[in-house]
Amino acid sequence: MKRDFLTLRDLSADELSAVLKRAAELKAGKDASACPLIGKSIGMLFEKASTRTRLSFQVGIYQLGAQTIYLNPNEIQFGRGETIEDTARVLSRYLNGFILRTFAHKTIEAFARSATIPVINGLTDLHHPCQALADLLTIKEEKGGFKGVRLTYVGDGNNVANSLIEAASMTGLEITIACPKGYEPDQAILKQAVSDGTNVRIINDPKKAVKGADVLYTDVWVSMGQEKEVTKRKKVFKAFQINKTLLSLAKPDAIVMHCLPAHKGEEITEDAFESPQSVVFQQAENRLHAQKALLEMLIR
Ligand code: CP
Ligand code: NVA
Repeated sequence: MKRDFLTLRDLSADELSAVLKRAAELKAGKDASACPLIGKSIGMLFEKASTRTRLSFQVGIYQLGAQTIYLNPNEIQFGRGETIEDTARVLSRYLNGFILRTFAHKTIEAFARSATIPVINGLTDLHHPCQALADLLTIKEEKGGFKGVRLTYVGDGNNVANSLIEAASMTGLEITIACPKGYEPDQAILKQAVSDGTNVRIINDPKKAVKGADVLYTDVWVSMGQEKEVTKRKKVFKAFQINKTLLSLAKPDAIVMHCLPAHKGEEITEDAFESPQSVVFQQAENRLHAQKALLEMLIR
């Protein structure tokens, strides 16, 4: 039975913890010359731009002994109207796994339903589960674990925020989302988290939200696909910026996280981004290790 990774919840809490443990081993150099995926081919198709996701998967897959085949949507028949379902069924006959970045989450769900190979979510408008894996690995490295660790996310209740809420539900992280009214995370994801007993708060005042935080996290005010809302969003999110003042209200040893790419001067100031408390490049590196551990678990 193939396993997909469309949301963080596609793993059990135990599997999540195993992936993080394995990611740390791989990062430390264990099994560096093992090629568990030798002879396999993993396809990738991205409807949106990507630096980290695309590169970390391509490098990680090569390190595991497999090859990637990157498909430009405009160069395959999908771009000319072949359905997502037929594309998934054909690709499943050649490939051993697939990584997809789409706008609508229902597009990846449709692809995964028709595919007979594991499908991994490389970001949709609703979720960014691979990012959350790397984020958890980084928090574990920096804070030693999750229980009682307080993460405050400042900004848009977007795909990254949604996956962080799922991460909190599955690990015991305490999560506060500081966002403007009307820009809350997905209601169904929040509802599920609350019914699981997750310590999750939505607050509209960023200063109040960061008090006592161990981790400050932010993401862009304008996600891919929202370009028409730039002017409006820049106004709405003005106060939702990680800067030195906000950082001084968190715990003195709080770390600063950002999934990247960053828009400095908007959601984060240059000095907060460059401060010794910032772990953003460690977080970016951890994409590679976390995804390799995920691939080892999913690809057969
Ligand atoms: N954080 C992240 O997913 O970056 P990319 O858009 O560059 O892949
Ligand atoms: N929320 C951002 C994340 C980019 C990695 C976006 O969707 O554009």
